[in-house]
Amino acid sequence: MRREAALARAAAVRLRFGRLLRAWYRSHHRDLPWRRTRDPYRILVSELMLQQTQVARVALKYGTFLERFPTLDAVARARPARVMEAWSGLGYYARAKNLHRLARTVAATGRPAILPDDAAALRSLPGIGPYTAGAVASFAFEQREALVDTNVARVVRRVIAPELDTTRGSDRQTVWAVARALLPRTGRATYVHNQALMELGALICTARVRHCARCPVRPVCATVEGDRP
Ligand code: ADE
Repeated sequence: MRREAALARAAAVRLRFGRLLRAWYRSHHRDLPWRRTRDPYRILVSELMLQQTQVARVALKYGTFLERFPTLDAVARARPARVMEAWSGLGYYARAKNLHRLARTVAATGRPAILPDDAAALRSLPGIGPYTAGAVASFAFEQREALVDTNVARVVRRVIAPELDTTRGSDRQTVWAVARALLPRTGRATYVHNQALMELGALICTARVRHCARCPVRPVCATVEGDRP
């Protein structure tokens, strides 16, 4: 029932939510290096880095890493230790190892190594889960794919379905379903929509503070300031 209620609310606010969100993003988003490219490899690298490392630190390391490894083929040709070395300062080196495994997997199917453009094929690659697959598909290929990480889950829960408990597996599935139900019609708008959801979670609807007074989607939000964490 919670799922049906959440999806009904998503359907009811989808158009207005999307318009408010994307209009806000266009005038308020941060100019981040990975938003200046549509290169799938470069977007993948940013998303892997951003999984466990803060934006400011990633922004410092991103350019240097890409100078050292400008393409997926360059990663595939390198020894794993060299990739780990270039990852230094970012922590969680399993991500670098996975990137190397992924590069070798894709390069084995032909050179130049080209990332697949759909989420299901991306998900089958080493180290790529549903979030990263959705991010690469929507950001690099403008596919109409949803993406949910902890920030997006928080935003979706607060705005659409405060009754959900995102620590529960079944409710996490519902959050994904709600995120899909909120997507705009086109892949092009999906790029902005997904970036905007992340940006709202980073700047306005944060884990620590809810800046409801300057929130663009306040008119459609199910959680009002002071009501819920
Ligand atoms: N965290 C993960 N992906 C991001 C993106 N594209 N922009 C900002 N923060 C992010």
